[in-house]
Amino acid sequence: MSNTPTVVSVINLKGGVGKTTVTALLARYAAQEWGLDVLAVDLDTQANLSQALMTADDYTRFMDEKQPSIVELFAGYAPPAQNKPSPSRLESADIIKLVSAGGWLESKLEVIPSRFDFSDNLVNSTRVEPEVLAKFIAQHMQHKDLILIDCAPTESILTIASYHASRYVLIPVKTEFFSTIGFPLMKQSLESFRKDNLGHTIEVCGVLVHRTKTSGSGSSKDGRDSLMDIRKKAKDYGWHIFCNRMDHSDSYPRWANDPHAGYLGNAAREWPKIAEEILAKIGLSKQEAEQ
Ligand SMILES: Nc1ncnc2c1ncn2[C@@H]1O[C@H](COP(=O)(O)OP(=O)(O)OP(=O)(O)O)[C@@H](O)[C@H]1O
Ligand SMILES: [Mg+2]
Repeated sequence: MSNTPTVVSVINLKGGVGKTTVTALLARYAAQEWGLDVLAVDLDTQANLSQALMTADDYTRFMDEKQPSIVELFAGYAPPAQNKPSPSRLESADIIKLVSAGGWLESKLEVIPSRFDFSDNLVNSTRVEPEVLAKFIAQHMQHKDLILIDCAPTESILTIASYHASRYVLIPVKTEFFSTIGFPLMKQSLESFRKDNLGHTIEVCGVLVHRTKTSGSGSSKDGRDSLMDIRKKAKDYGWHIFCNRMDHSDSYPRWANDPHAGYLGNAAREWPKIAEEILAKIGLSKQEAEQ
């Protein structure tokens, strides 16, 4: 295994397809089951990933105390605060929060959280330097094994920032009406990035199908049509489709938000296969437990 982190953008320019759920679950799985040192980066103003990974108390404290977040990482400094009369240097340790692992004390899972006010001062700014996250990873995060970046469903300067940091792109897609509506946008966005950054290798590691009830066995025509459309477009674009698919199950959101919840039903059998297929595809391997 490489001794630098493998960085993956989890993205689809379509909303509500499972990007954040997959990022949270994959980050936890890689840290807890494979013993990998993992960083999850919340690049979405909705801050859903931060809330899923941090406890409610930790997230509230982070907001109340105005602790540094991804916003300060892009700004490049820690602003004056209640007991701090000037801007100060931002230490990487100030931005990174250890994720509570649900009783698993040796967790190496950390998160760079997002804040709700993010949209006002960053997304619409044209002054953001899109290489900031990539530089931060290059300078401070080389000890990690895996870095997962949860992206927003709309394209912005932050999408470009995520690409600059990433070797791979993972595309969750849901079998629903207009399931592939984000695919041409994704293709265009990646092609344009590659054209502007000829020295950068970035590729789609795979499309993860999130199967709604209508596309399973005994499925409706809409579900089957949607799956066929996903297969066809992915093939046209040369994108791999993961063999294992994520069913629609309440276990997934429950477990993504609460590490104590555990998987139930089909998800308990299904998720480890999905996670292991993705991790293997991006060239990672399980760490042997230290004696
Ligand atoms: N496999 C699943 N089974 C059941 N519900 C799911 C599953 N995956 C995600 N969900 C739920 O579907 C909703 C959308 O999921 P999620 O937030 O992960 O999507 P997203 O692509 O990150 O959305 P957005 O584009 O808004 O960031 C959430 O309420 C989530 O809890
Ligand atoms: Mg999301």
